Amino acid sequence: MNELLELAVTVASEGAKLAARRRTEPVTVAATKSSPVDVVTAVDREVEALIRDRIAAARPDDGFLGEESDAAGGSSGLTWVVDPIDGTVNFLYGVPLYAVSVAVVEGGTDPATWTPLAGCVVNVAAGEVFAAARGEGATLNGEPISVSAPADLATSLLITGFGYDPAVRAEQGAVAARLLPQARDLRRTGSCAIDLCWIAAGRADAYWERGVHVWDFAAGLLIAAEAGAAVEVGEGGSGELLVVATAPTIRAEFAAALARATSATS
Ligand code: IPD
Repeated sequence: MNELLELAVTVASEGAKLAARRRTEPVTVAATKSSPVDVVTAVDREVEALIRDRIAAARPDDGFLGEESDAAGGSSGLTWVVDPIDGTVNFLYGVPLYAVSVAVVEGGTDPATWTPLAGCVVNVAAGEVFAAARGEGATLNGEPISVSAPADLATSLLITGFGYDPAVRAEQGAVAARLLPQARDLRRTGSCAIDLCWIAAGRADAYWERGVHVWDFAAGLLIAAEAGAAVEVGEGGSGELLVVATAPTIRAEFAAALARATSATS
């Protein structure tokens, strides 16, 4: 395994163990962020601190960008992009769908220009370790995985997420409502990282979400791409990112349907 991937898997797995242990104790909200429903727990912070320390000890010249702490530049040209708990609301409620997500990218912190090198997403409650290194394929618990090949949108399982801002969420719901009748069905796990890994493993056929943050998708998008997904990070409006990952067989059909649903909603 390449050195960066090995470190990503090691620190994500350590973070996952800590999160799982803390989940056996009472979990409370430590603070709210962009809205009253955008929460952070003490465990998010503790897991991020652990991962940050481990990375700094192993690779002191690399930069760091995490969801819960200050960003730090480095001199190596590499940056670690970390979500200590993606699916924080699930974690808070005890819903077993939350993940530790660790990626390392080259070339800064803008997904339009960075090159993701390695990533690991641990779906903590399921004990699933998804991993990928650029050009080396994607794995689930060490076994290669690949995307699905649906014949068309009508037989495709869609997966998406919703942001924390009520106005944005209303639009997201309207777009989802327009796509739902055109597809097999729709899932919402509450973790962007898990959504993308489910695309990678063929558990869903098309993912899209507007307004996600780089730490939500940095590792999962590489894992999906390495599993064969068609992936795209674009401008979602109002300066927000739109992330799309689909089985290649429905890439064009889904893109057209999403564009229609979006323009009908705006
Ligand atoms: C959230 C999850 C969710 C997505 C939100 C994200 P968090 O991240 O990934 O699935 O719909 O947009 O903010 O807050 O649990 O780290």
